Amino acid sequence: MLYNKIIRPILFLMDAEFVHDLVSSILSVANKSRMINNIIFIFFNFSTPRIKQKLCGLYFRTPIGLAGGMDKKAAAPLLWSAFDFGWAELGSFTAEPWAGNARPRLWRLIKEQGIIVYSGLPNIGALAVSNKLTREIKRYPRRGLWGISIAKTPRVPLEQAAEDYARSFNILEPLANIITINLSCPNVSGFIGLQDPQKLEPILKKITEINKNNKIIFLKIGNDLDTSQLDDIIALVKKYSIHGIIATNLTKKREKISLPSKYADKPGGISGKLISDRANKIIAHLYRQSEGRYIVVGCGGVFTGQDAFTKIKAGAQLIQLATGFIFGGPASIKKINRELDAALKQNDFAHIADAVGREAYNYSL
Ligand SMILES: Cc1cc2nc3c(=O)[nH]c(=O)nc-3n(C[C@H](O)[C@H](O)[C@H](O)COP(=O)(O)O)c2cc1C
Repeated sequence: MLYNKIIRPILFLMDAEFVHDLVSSILSVANKSRMINNIIFIFFNFSTPRIKQKLCGLYFRTPIGLAGGMDKKAAAPLLWSAFDFGWAELGSFTAEPWAGNARPRLWRLIKEQGIIVYSGLPNIGALAVSNKLTREIKRYPRRGLWGISIAKTPRVPLEQAAEDYARSFNILEPLANIITINLSCPNVSGFIGLQDPQKLEPILKKITEINKNNKIIFLKIGNDLDTSQLDDIIALVKKYSIHGIIATNLTKKREKISLPSKYADKPGGISGKLISDRANKIIAHLYRQSEGRYIVVGCGGVFTGQDAFTKIKAGAQLIQLATGFIFGGPASIKKINRELDAALKQNDFAHIADAVGREAYNYSL
């Protein structure tokens, strides 16, 4: 209420990236204090046996996760679980530090409930992140799981992607519960080409070879893939026993969404409500083709527990969100978890697992 009526309107008067950096700095200070973490947890924690899950040997206190791009500096890695996230994906990080595209590179779509993102993977680089997280781990015990998203360093040619991902993997794998291979940043030239089977296979082969600790691996795919591109990715995911697919990243295809013409000159991919329907169709397709061989993580336009429930019925076992947190504020994750629990109960599902994929056959791509 306070966030929606007072804080958000003030924050939304300022440049989107300035606010993101400001909030990141505040959270980074709060993250240092175990007491503050505990107080936030007391206010915001909500979980029930209905929404707790053990997947890939990992215990998810709630299915709702922080999506890639929200904590690009590993600023508040211990704090996310206090806001009721069951897991948080930090990054994306690249093997070398990267400045990203020139600012401004974020624009809010307030009416449409989305963001135009043209960041281009700015981050401090895998080694600096590793040093930071190594210090964080010693600070106090953490409640939630850490996913770490790795991406190809933009200056590295696509042909050398496998070695570049391997560098980040080797540095960051020991600190993560899950490593996500981000294949779908639409704001770096050529990057989404990594989803082509000829480019993707060497990456998966390399990562599988060096994954001596059997770390859980997810792939993050784009919103603009067609059925045959998805099927090519699914075949490789099965071949290399990848544990999960996160669907989806931003869309770059403006023609498939209705966006006011005043945004026509703003480059970048789009998040939020406008990409939700396509994400749901992709989730359902991934679920239908999965044969239980990988899990599906639903991402794109989740703002409420009902949105999460829709994605779960389409086939998602876990959920991620970015824009919904920016628009909904600190209390939104508890609200989503509570609403999801209520929706499951109302529909006579004793556990989230009973609802997964129940409506997967109602969608077509
Ligand atoms: C500001 C911003 C930055 C993002 N940066 C990344 C990123 O670095 N890596 C990534 O995999 N996805 C990134 N994304 C995409 C989100 O993780 C997510 O896939 C997408 O926004 C759809 O989810 P949403 O509708 O809940 O925002 C970013 C999204 C936003 C809004």
